Amino acid sequence: MPEAVRIDGKGFADGLRARIAAAAEAFALHAGRRPGLAVVLVGEDAASQVYVGAKGRACIEAGIASFEHRLPATTGAAELLVLIERLNRDPEVDGILVQLPLPEGLDEQAVIAAIDPDKDVDGFHVINAGRLSVGQEGFVPCTPLGCLMLLRDHLGDLSGLEAVVIGRSNIVGKPMAQLLTDANATVTIAHSRTRDLPEVVRRADIVVAAVGRPEMVRGDWIKPGATVIDVGINRLPPTEDRPKGRLVGDVAYAEALGVAGAITPVPGGVGPMTIAVLLRNTLVAAHRHAGMDAPSGI
Ligand code: GUN
Repeated sequence: MPEAVRIDGKGFADGLRARIAAAAEAFALHAGRRPGLAVVLVGEDAASQVYVGAKGRACIEAGIASFEHRLPATTGAAELLVLIERLNRDPEVDGILVQLPLPEGLDEQAVIAAIDPDKDVDGFHVINAGRLSVGQEGFVPCTPLGCLMLLRDHLGDLSGLEAVVIGRSNIVGKPMAQLLTDANATVTIAHSRTRDLPEVVRRADIVVAAVGRPEMVRGDWIKPGATVIDVGINRLPPTEDRPKGRLVGDVAYAEALGVAGAITPVPGGVGPMTIAVLLRNTLVAAHRHAGMDAPSGI
């Protein structure tokens, strides 16, 4: 069996970001302003600071205005909601992202509920979850939409394919299953209580692993030729030759390479797609706010 094709998420995301940059420039010429994304970070979580910094830089590179709001961990709910209200009303702001997790004591659901659904470029608001569920136009969470783009790019039509999504989070598993269903795949959502998970995964033409458990999906769970999308980013404990610890996905990559038809690597697979789709959702929001048709092919 030949080795699996490595799905180049980084390369796809770079191409998408270049198309977004061109479309953002065209938008600015027509609308007289750049698309704008407000990112709100509360507290000093180290990983969140890295993500927020990366999002800001990606905006600038794509010609999208970035409005960063870094608030101390002691910020109260009322103060945060006042900021969100201000951003909801700000005509320069097309998208609002509140970086999660929030410090303890702040109610994430209440904060997300305060965001104008038409600026909710994360797609986390219940209105957008509902729109996705019933097939209305809204915003779809960035990671699953990025996974769908990679699948469509690699496989084309997904009609009739058996897809198994491992993980049922609101941010990845549930919207991923919905997107695959809408693409006419036959979808199973597996989770921690699924009986005989290896046997369920063996049915799948498409496996999307989003559980956050390092290398949980083994090579012999995978149907020969299947397409594997690995959403997991797990850092293993440090070793002598890897003092920072190695990054691995939810799939045992080396094992899966010998069985799968195609697989996303970690890092360099799904990860880079998330920010690219965030820029895409912001660009789409800007077009909707300006009463313009969103550009095609993005
Ligand atoms: N924290 C980790 N990933 C994400 C994301 O995609 N959006 C937000 N808002 N917070 C996150």
